[in-house]
Amino acid sequence: MKSILENRPALAAEIDKVAEVAGYLWQKGWAERNGGNITVNVTEHVDDAVRALPAISERYPIGTVLPHLKGCFFFCKGTNRRMRDLARRPMENGSVIRIADDCASYEIVADAPVKPTSELASHLAMHNKMIADGKGYKAAIHTHPIDLVAMTHNPAFLEKDVLTNLLWSMIPETRAFCPKGLGIVPYKMPSSVELAEATIGALQEYDVVMWEKHGVCAVGPDIFEAFDQIDVLSKSAQIYLTAKAMGFEPTGTTQEQMDELKRAFDL
Ligand code: 13P
Ligand code: ZN
Repeated sequence: MKSILENRPALAAEIDKVAEVAGYLWQKGWAERNGGNITVNVTEHVDDAVRALPAISERYPIGTVLPHLKGCFFFCKGTNRRMRDLARRPMENGSVIRIADDCASYEIVADAPVKPTSELASHLAMHNKMIADGKGYKAAIHTHPIDLVAMTHNPAFLEKDVLTNLLWSMIPETRAFCPKGLGIVPYKMPSSVELAEATIGALQEYDVVMWEKHGVCAVGPDIFEAFDQIDVLSKSAQIYLTAKAMGFEPTGTTQEQMDELKRAFDL
């Protein structure tokens, strides 16, 4: 079978990035079984031949109407597919979908009829918002980092910006590279439209959003940058946990030091 990636180097390069990040998620222990999902808006890499591809699946409802996605193409991890398999064989463990003109349904067009992630409503809602914002963001990721998810089991950390300030204060880079901090979405049923809507609400203020007792979502210009934001937050969580394991409460950088950083980096 001919892959959609053949003779399309720009599209293939995007899928390579997805595979690379999928490998990191597995190596980090954030992707047990099928845990987590990745989607990338690949519309700019699609030519007339791809646009004319017939559907290879029935038409599925998204569950919500997303007006900015009309005619867009996305690479999506398949539901129930393992990240570690996506890393090695992305086109067998994910697929390219096309959003229908009603902006409320989609069809799979390539390579195989692999049904997209169960969190598609959240992913597509994030992409709809990214297009509306006009910042050129193309990637969305959801993953289950052990340290960050563990922190959401403490109600005090779920208050607005408590976790953001704690994580920023562990190492200066976290503030520099995750300047908007970490939004909190109170627990909602996985895969639900309610979860998608709450995620979009939190993304008004943040590029990274925590789903209480479940996982993290991040958006970015490409999948590397979305991953990096979760990675720096997880590093801070590790520093906090390591200090606690050594038997003391970490002091954290001072508010003055953080303000100085904010001015210096124009955050
Ligand atoms: P999928 O296998 O459907 O992508 O689900 C994984 C997950 O993390 C759900 O929240
Ligand atoms: Zn999940």
